Amino acid sequence: MAEVKVGLQGVVIAQSSICSIDGERGKLMYRGYDIHDLAAHSTFEEVVYLLWHGRLPTRGELEELQKDLAENRLVAPEILEILKKLPPPQHPMETLRTLVSALSLYDPEAEDMSEEANRRKAMRLTAQIGTLVAAFGRVRNGQAPVAPDPQLNHAANFLYMLKGQVPNAEEARCFDVALILHADHSFNASTFAARVTASTLSDLHSAITSAIGTLKGPLHGGANERVMRMLLEIGSVERAEPYVHDLLARKQKVMGFGHRVYHTEDPRATVLRKMSEELGRRTGEPKWFEISRRVEEFMIREKKINANVDFYSASAYYVLGIPVELYTPVFAVSRISGWTAHVLEQYANNKLIRPLAEYTGAANLKYVSVDQR
Ligand code: COA
Repeated sequence: MAEVKVGLQGVVIAQSSICSIDGERGKLMYRGYDIHDLAAHSTFEEVVYLLWHGRLPTRGELEELQKDLAENRLVAPEILEILKKLPPPQHPMETLRTLVSALSLYDPEAEDMSEEANRRKAMRLTAQIGTLVAAFGRVRNGQAPVAPDPQLNHAANFLYMLKGQVPNAEEARCFDVALILHADHSFNASTFAARVTASTLSDLHSAITSAIGTLKGPLHGGANERVMRMLLEIGSVERAEPYVHDLLARKQKVMGFGHRVYHTEDPRATVLRKMSEELGRRTGEPKWFEISRRVEEFMIREKKINANVDFYSASAYYVLGIPVELYTPVFAVSRISGWTAHVLEQYANNKLIRPLAEYTGAANLKYVSVDQR
């Protein structure tokens, strides 16, 4: 019997030219470009082009993509009607999963598996997920959804649709960088789920619906929300160490720490730490960064476990005014770009993904009729 690799840990299951991670040196690259370089100089739209096409766009190509994204942001009115009729959700990711699935019913190309149609659907989904999340954020507060503004870039438009106010340039840029940092991460659980679904030659919307259901879990995208709930519960810098000490004593995991692939600092956390600090200082609300820093120092000292992408995104989003329950859906607003790039790559060179398991159950049992059990 072959060796069992629980959780597929360390198993390479395909070749991909989208994203590379060096977990030992803490390096992350999209299509060969270092994430630090992209975070410093690029925009989310440029990164979307890069992920989908394998190279950075020319000015003309970038303008065309910006225009396409802006023009595709409106969702069918029926989708917003569904949103309004849904019962209060246990979790906004349930709503997002349901609405993205419903989008396919209103997409005339839903079942068209040609590459051109799949690229157009990737564009529509990337443009529209932000509209769904922002609309959800408003409807649950009894507010009317705000229509997208085609003059704003992806990041600024999302904050505008969510809060009903055009963000200032600094806020918009911070959110733009957060979108860049979350755009892709190789064969993470949700991307893998999308690729498994795509590998059956099911449609793009089904693959993305699988991904959203997978992102929802607390060991994946659900961690950022839990980080913020923890920071709120800690409440003050002095309480940070005893709080985490107690969590660890009870053998609980501290959300926002640890990673399957990185054995050093997650390079996205490096950028987000700085962003959280700067945003805290500028808005006169440094407390959440300071608590986070104390928690991080404690985790490194006591457990030698580093912060991951979810840790400092929590305090940064809080200061940006994003409601806590929307943190994981906001992850999807960015990661849709990576998911769709991976699904396109999967379709282009498909092989059904179907691993094996080592069977450990009973054998050779004889069927006993129900009235004799
Ligand atoms: N808090 C406390 N201990 C942690 C920890 C955390 N956040 N993350 C890992 N550890 C410890 C585990 O308890 C385990 O210790 P043990 O060997 O003594 O049992 C060891 O580190 C290995 O962790 P494990 O969960 O087996 O590693 P994994 O590769 O399966 O899991 C994560 C990776 C991300 C799921 C895990 O680190 C985690 O649950 N983190 C918190 C959730 C989170 O932030 N997720 C977002 C990821 S981007």
